[in-house]
Formats: sequence, structure tokens, C-alpha cells
Amino acid sequence: MNNHACVTGWGMYVPERVLTNQELEKLVDTSDSWIIERTGIRERRVVADHETASTMATEAARQALDRAGLEAKDIDLIIVATVSPDNYYPSCGCQVQDTLGAKRAAAFDLGAGCSGFLYALSTATQFIKTGAYRNAVVIGAEAFTRTLNWEDRGTCVLFGDGAGALVLQACQEPFGLRSFLLGADGSGGKFLYLRNLCARPGDWPENNRPQMYMDGPEVFKFAVGSMVNTAREAIKMAGLSLSDIDLIIPHQANYRIISSMTRFLKIPEDRVVINIDRYGNTVSASIPVALCEAIRDGRVKDGDNLVLVSFGTGFTWAGLVLKWGVPAEVGKRSLSQAGASRGDGQGGVK
Ligand code: UT7
Repeated sequence: MNNHACVTGWGMYVPERVLTNQELEKLVDTSDSWIIERTGIRERRVVADHETASTMATEAARQALDRAGLEAKDIDLIIVATVSPDNYYPSCGCQVQDTLGAKRAAAFDLGAGCSGFLYALSTATQFIKTGAYRNAVVIGAEAFTRTLNWEDRGTCVLFGDGAGALVLQACQEPFGLRSFLLGADGSGGKFLYLRNLCARPGDWPENNRPQMYMDGPEVFKFAVGSMVNTAREAIKMAGLSLSDIDLIIPHQANYRIISSMTRFLKIPEDRVVINIDRYGNTVSASIPVALCEAIRDGRVKDGDNLVLVSFGTGFTWAGLVLKWGVPAEVGKRSLSQAGASRGDGQGGVK
């Protein structure tokens, strides 16, 4: 029986529209220097009217399928991690399934905030490991800026939009997830939330317009310890030590969080992927987008041990070790070659 799930394709999409810190200076009482110093963010992408989480998810998935050499009819499962879907229902997963024409695929959304993509990757892997499915598409997609209060300087400067996707396929050799750790502590829910219209009427957002609330310092306190402990535990669960890890791809929420994690783990920053300066926090899209860029930049090689680690609303946390590579039985081409030769959805693929 095939009992591993290797990554055979990847893709990303970010909107064309770049929103700079200088533009934000005109909207709220902030400054380029404050944003850079406190967060590391210089600019972020923002959806245009024609873009949503599902349109971006579909484009990222198309690229990932193309790289994997799969067609829509081959897909058994689509999971979209998102907290900014187009609808309460139907799910983004169903919208992607329809647009791609993936007629055989089961499809659903998964909401675990910024940990959503790693929750989804772990979930899809279980379906493949049990032999239930062979080919899955896992996507993180967010039109998160549509939830922001553009008068709240404490939150509106932090987030951006985008999508990233991976194709997972059954294989016999031990590539793919070597360990995963998922966690939750719902008592942290009060620090970062977005009510919806089905909340108790007294809890409805003002004007019935969904807008996020965040207590930044409380989330920050939770984030650093969570990222460090989760990364350490996931590495231990894989039977590895930090020196075996080639690259860490953390959730991109704040450069200071990433750099504190790096210091506590005592790893050099050149073994950590950081792109928050160009995208801000894209919530469940942040890790797949960072992974796609790392592949494009030649930072991921066959045989590498990658650590993907995140924290988010809930609170939730997730960490996993991913052994990168495609066995000959599945791979149609060299992953590293394919990664280097593509544009990776920069500049708004339509
Ligand atoms: O994916 C998970 C989602 N969220 C996170 O990971 C967020 C985690 N938290 C953070 O990243 C940080 O807490 C923030 C970046 C949100 C805030 O940074 P901070 O260093 O914790 O600032 P603070 O909230 O303690 O505020 C310090 C000061 C305050 O002014 P006073 O009261 O000292 O006068 C804020 O009003 O900075 C002010 N401030 C700003 N000033 C200029 C807050 N936002 C801004 C801003 N521009 N955009």
C-alpha cells in the first residue's frame, strides 16, 4: 500500500495591487518607520474587485496541478484553508472544485486561522496515508483585507491577501510529512476574532459589517513561545534534531516574532524563509506562498527536511516536518528544475 503523501506540485497567486506603507500613512495615523520597525512589513497585496479567496485559490491550484502533471479529473480531494471565504456557504472548496472541473473531488473549507494551511496539509495527508485518496490539493487562500477596519491603525497595516497551493500524491517512499503537531486553546479566542452574522445579536459587529478585532500584544506574547515549542516538538516527533533541519518556513505575522523564534531556537536566519516585508500577514496563505518563493529561489532541494510552523486565532498552533522530494514512481519532472523556471503567480495571474 502507498502510505506516504509527497508534494508533487505547488503554486501561488497574489493580487497585482501593492499597498505601501506610505499609502497607509495617508489613511491612518501611522508611519513607514513605525510599521517597518514594529513589524518588518514594507508593502502588502490587496484584492481588486474581481478577486476573492476562491478566485485566488483556483489560480494557485491550477499552477500546482500543472507542475504535478495532473488534470482536474485526477483530484480526489480539495481542502481550502481560509477565514475569509467568499460565502458562508457554499465553501471555497466547492467553488474551486467547480471552476477547475474536478468532478470526482470531495471539497471543503477548513478554518483554523493562520494555522489553517498546516491543519489542512495534515488532514489531507491522513486521507492519503489511509489509502482513501491518492491525489489531493491543499490550498491556503485569503481576501483578508476585506475584513479590516481601515481606521484602526493597530490592525489595518498588518495584513495582506493571496493564495498558495500544494498537490499531494500517494507514494511508497518516505517523502512528505514526517511528523505533525496540531493544537488549540480556545480560551485565547477573545484576543483575535471576527464575529459573523450568526453570532448572538448582541455580539453582532457594528453596522453588521464583519470587522476583525485583535489585541496585538496578547497575541504577540502567545506567538513566540508557541512557535518555538511547536517547532521543537515537531522536530522531536520526527526523530530529528535542529541540526537536521535545512529550512524553517514560519507563519509570517511579524518579523519580530520570527526573529525571536530564530534566537530561541539558535538557528541562523539564513535557514528561515522571511517574506513578510512584501506581503504582510496573509493568514492561511502565508506559509504556502513563502514555500513557493523558497522553491523558486532554489532554497529547497530534494531530500531536505523542512519545518513549517504557525500560530493563529483560536488560539491554534501547528508544526510539521516535511521531507521534500518526489519518488521516481510519481514525479514527472525534477521539482527543483520546475520551480526555478516558473513565474510563481507574481503580478496577478488571471
Ligand atoms: O497571525 C496572527 C495575527 N496577529 C499577530 O500575530 C499580531 C501579533 N502582535 C503584533 O505583531 C504586535 O503586537 C503589533 C504589531 C500588532 C503591535 O506592536 P506592539 O509593539 O505590540 O505595539 P502596541 O500595540 O503595544 O502599541 C504601542 C504603541 C501604542 O501607542 P501608545 O499607546 O504607546 O501611545 C499604539 O497605539 O504603538 C501604537 N500603534 C501604532 N503607531 C503607529 C499601534 N499601531 C500603530 C501604527 N502606527 N500602525
